[in-house]
Amino acid sequence: MTTGTAVPSPLEVIRLGHPVLRQVAEPVPEEFFGTGRLNDLYRNMVQTMISEDGVGLAAPQVAEGLRLFVYWVPGDDDHPDIAPKLLANPEIKPVGDLVEDGWEGCLSIPGLRGIVPRYSRIKVRARDIEGNAVSLTADGFHARVLQHEFDHLDGIVFLDRMESPASLAYEQEWERYILNSGTDL
Ligand code: NI
Repeated sequence: MTTGTAVPSPLEVIRLGHPVLRQVAEPVPEEFFGTGRLNDLYRNMVQTMISEDGVGLAAPQVAEGLRLFVYWVPGDDDHPDIAPKLLANPEIKPVGDLVEDGWEGCLSIPGLRGIVPRYSRIKVRARDIEGNAVSLTADGFHARVLQHEFDHLDGIVFLDRMESPASLAYEQEWERYILNSGTDL
């Protein structure tokens, strides 16, 4: 077993059209938890996510068909940052039936943004990088990130979740015409 001390290096993020993005990923096997190999994958995925300005990255996006993802959530006035972490073999359940629209993008669909409805509050049960059971409740943007990443494990991308393609926008135009228009979504 390696100790995972290699310098993290960014991985290639595959894009829509690569078949792995549309496959249902396999559960992370028991013997993979706590290994240097999983730790290296984790560190390389975090490095990739940060260097690409993402807030989440699922293993299928780096062509690894495993049910795990990394994410982080930048803080705001009411919430501190959630530091990067890995969740494996997650299960997600909505808490209540409130659904909110919000803008999403995806590192595998570069340059595009669209409005996606997601549950406002969810409960997640998963395993951490050592294989320990974790459970958490997430709201708002945090809940959105987790639902987006979870979908990748089932071969689903945000485009599939849009109620209408009419909101699709290129990032530059989005920044110019939508972000600064005062639209509150
Ligand atoms: Ni994505």
